Amino acid sequence: MNDPNGDPRYTMGRDKEKTDRLIQQSRLYDGLTRQLFNDAGIRSGMKVLDVGSGAGDVSLILAELVGSEGKVIGVDSNAEILETARVRAKEAGLANVEFLAGDARTLDVGGDFDALVGRLVLMYMADPAAALKDLIQRLRPEGIVAFEETDFTIYRSSSRPDTPLMNKLVEWLLAVFERSGAHVAMGSDLYRTFVEAGLPEPVLHFEAPMGGSET
Ligand SMILES: C[S@@+](CC[C@H](N)C(=O)[O-])C[C@H]1O[C@@H](n2cnc3c(N)ncnc32)[C@H](O)[C@@H]1O
Repeated sequence: MNDPNGDPRYTMGRDKEKTDRLIQQSRLYDGLTRQLFNDAGIRSGMKVLDVGSGAGDVSLILAELVGSEGKVIGVDSNAEILETARVRAKEAGLANVEFLAGDARTLDVGGDFDALVGRLVLMYMADPAAALKDLIQRLRPEGIVAFEETDFTIYRSSSRPDTPLMNKLVEWLLAVFERSGAHVAMGSDLYRTFVEAGLPEPVLHFEAPMGGSET
């Protein structure tokens, strides 16, 4: 079901349990995210906009990378989750990160950002290319654009052994996200999305955390 913007309704829900899940998920992705930002050239002193900042995990990484001379603004349409993000930033002693509630595409956050970033957020926007086109208006000329998105369709072929139960779980996962309207292959669509938004061809990496049962 879509919201009034035409966006998919956020697939994973909005309660405390879902926020805790998001924080746990971050432990899987944070290493890759940090690498992405380092490779993209995010450095000390920069001003960065984190789109769809959730419980703050991406902003916390950025706050460390840009240091006390830099500034991070995290924007999320879910005002409640930002309370968690603010507490976490305070506990980490980070004074260079601020969280604002609103739709990142339209909220007035000022301009002249050195970098525009987001993780697992374009997949929840009705028209990711149009969103990116709006969002890059907040960047200074030659600013950095760095997004990390997933492709759930690849899960179909990634489990070993390839058991019927695992395949069923993957199909259920895909069905839930597809029915919510989320872009399940957003990661693989990033190239087209960047080009349609009028950006130069992006440098893309495909990376994934992998694991297995301990027994
Ligand atoms: C899967 S969570 C990812 C959170 C965080 N980026 C992370 O990786 O831990 C996606 C977040 O994007 C937010 N979101 C989705 N569309 C948004 C929009 N148009 N503007 C601001 N936030 C948005 C959701 O509320 C949600 O908190």
